Amino acid sequence: MTTSGGVLGGKSFLASARPSSNVEQNVEWPEQFPFKEEDFQRDDVSPDSLFYKAPRFVTHIDDPAIAALTKFYSRVLPPSNSPGVSILDICSSWISHYPAGYKQERIVGMGMNEEELKQNSVLTEYIVQDLNVNPKLPFEDNSFDVITNVVSVDYLTKPLDVFKEMSQILKPGGQAIMSFSDRCFWTKAISIWTSTGDTDHVLIVGSYFHYAGGFEPPQAVDISPNPGQSDPMYIVYSRKASTT
Ligand SMILES: C[S@@+](CC[C@H](N)C(=O)[O-])C[C@H]1O[C@@H](n2cnc3c(N)ncnc32)[C@H](O)[C@@H]1O
Repeated sequence: MTTSGGVLGGKSFLASARPSSNVEQNVEWPEQFPFKEEDFQRDDVSPDSLFYKAPRFVTHIDDPAIAALTKFYSRVLPPSNSPGVSILDICSSWISHYPAGYKQERIVGMGMNEEELKQNSVLTEYIVQDLNVNPKLPFEDNSFDVITNVVSVDYLTKPLDVFKEMSQILKPGGQAIMSFSDRCFWTKAISIWTSTGDTDHVLIVGSYFHYAGGFEPPQAVDISPNPGQSDPMYIVYSRKASTT
């Protein structure tokens, strides 16, 4: 699928991105979702429940990258303690990187390891669910203001199903914020991710929003804190279209 012009052979929406520059995309998406089943295969085909059985109380990106993500969140998340606000963190663990002391009535974490989720102090509830086995997000339609996913979108083998679910359960105008770096568990990431680079990853995640439907055109921003010195950090995000 990779071509010299990038994973979609198109114009990159990170082409002129600099840290914290907001990049309006101008991608001409192919008519059909361009990826094939083999693009979502992984080297490690054993169940994810085995890989995530033991908790990992580690951080998966370095401190400057975490700080950049938290700063981004502080600009875009609803203010702490806003009445009626619900947030979902998918592929969650013991830490969600929201601003210090951040609270809402409902913050749900979904992930693979219960011990990790139990330790996540920002969550008001959690669900252990393998999204590669069951991509259904078990919530009412139009019930979340924000969905976050940190450094984990590359593990989803049924991303369009998950993104369709996200558009169902977001409130109209609600935001989905996917963030990622250039690190991952290589054997567990999908092959289209491990065979491509950062700019392609932005396009891949953008394509999930586009082809899932129900979202406004996705936006990308490069929030890498110190290019070349710290982990890079990219965000691809979109709002649920109000008319769906
Ligand atoms: C690299 S860790 C990132 C954790 C957390 N978001 C963070 O920023 O520290 C990957 C996370 O993806 C979750 N994950 C991986 N495969 C998954 C799957 N098939 N279904 C649901 N969650 C999954 C794991 O539970 C794990 O917490």
